[in-house]
Amino acid sequence: MAKITLSVIKADIGGYVGHSSSHPDILARAEENLKKAGFLLDFCVMRCGDDLELIMTHQQGEDNEKIHKLAWDTFIDCTNLAKKMRLYGAGQDILSDSFSGNVKGMGPGVAEIEFEQRKSDPVIIFMADKTSPGAWNFPLYKIFADPFNTAGLVIDPSIHDGFKFEVLDPYKEETIIFSAPEEIYDMLVFIGAREHYITRRIWRKSDNEIAAVSSTQKLALIAGKYVGKDDPVLIVRAQSGFPAVGEVLEGFAFPYLVAGWMRGSHNGPFMPTSFKEANPTRFDGPPRVIAAGFQIGDEGKLVGPRDMFDDPSFDRTRRMADEMADYMRRHGPFEPHRLPLADMEYTTLPDVRKKLEGRFKKEVKREV
Ligand code: F6R
Ligand code: MG
Ligand code: MG
Repeated sequence: MAKITLSVIKADIGGYVGHSSSHPDILARAEENLKKAGFLLDFCVMRCGDDLELIMTHQQGEDNEKIHKLAWDTFIDCTNLAKKMRLYGAGQDILSDSFSGNVKGMGPGVAEIEFEQRKSDPVIIFMADKTSPGAWNFPLYKIFADPFNTAGLVIDPSIHDGFKFEVLDPYKEETIIFSAPEEIYDMLVFIGAREHYITRRIWRKSDNEIAAVSSTQKLALIAGKYVGKDDPVLIVRAQSGFPAVGEVLEGFAFPYLVAGWMRGSHNGPFMPTSFKEANPTRFDGPPRVIAAGFQIGDEGKLVGPRDMFDDPSFDRTRRMADEMADYMRRHGPFEPHRLPLADMEYTTLPDVRKKLEGRFKKEVKREV
């Protein structure tokens, strides 16, 4: 069989209730759309918070017009239904009729991976809500470059050489490829700044086989002004020459801080939950991540999803995230809970500054 492409295309086309979740009728409508397309090998419709996720296998390759149009038409059709139901922020991607702190709202995010099928191909698709694509930097580093996370980097000859990381600077529209482990100190200078540098692709170094791909859309840059957080997705291949499923999931065992949460303007813990619990409610959060595990079967069949974070071994992570949420919330409008001015999705700063014009007095330097 020729190569298979796995496409994950997502958009927030309307929330239920507020920005907290998705309505089941919208998911059913998306399924109807994909079912009648006829050219997909298989598909699975999911949601994380208020984001609709279309997971598709096909043989059209990456960036294929037919596939992207199918996703776009599905989003439009679902938006029309969301408008009828007056779901919140319905059509914020297309024709906004509810204010959401942005002009264009959440445009579709895309992660696609084309690969030759192995005898057995376990894949994990991570889907997030209330955060931005830089949220993947931390776990991707842990999974593919940190021997304290991934034992295989030390003891499995098939990954002992390490991985290559493609890092994107969306502001300058530049990419750079780092080789791990030799260049990790250089790489961390950049990817530690998660709102400025985004890890986009990872390859196994020994044969350049693709290992992971993330969505990197920064809507603020597309729309040219503050818009919603991007709620990114990430595809990771696992086992036999890649980190094991458990090593991949281990990257999320610590609820590290990500940017997003309320009004896309706060740092908060990234909470891994089951599919059912991916409904950010407290202060519109904390930011969520779900992990859908699939085996890619014969003819691109998506055997799954398995709800990978639906496991008591992640209970402590969730509890810790709740404690961290309390700790961060007590900062109220102060940094580092609130994001630095440049990273906030909403800001009243220019207006307030203008109102107070004339009241700011130049500091007079006094000789001592
Ligand atoms: C963050 C998010 C929400 C909204 C907030 C205000 O990405 O979607 O936290 O920013 O609920 O929403 P609006 O401005 O639509 O009332
Ligand atoms: Mg929303
Ligand atoms: Mg969302």
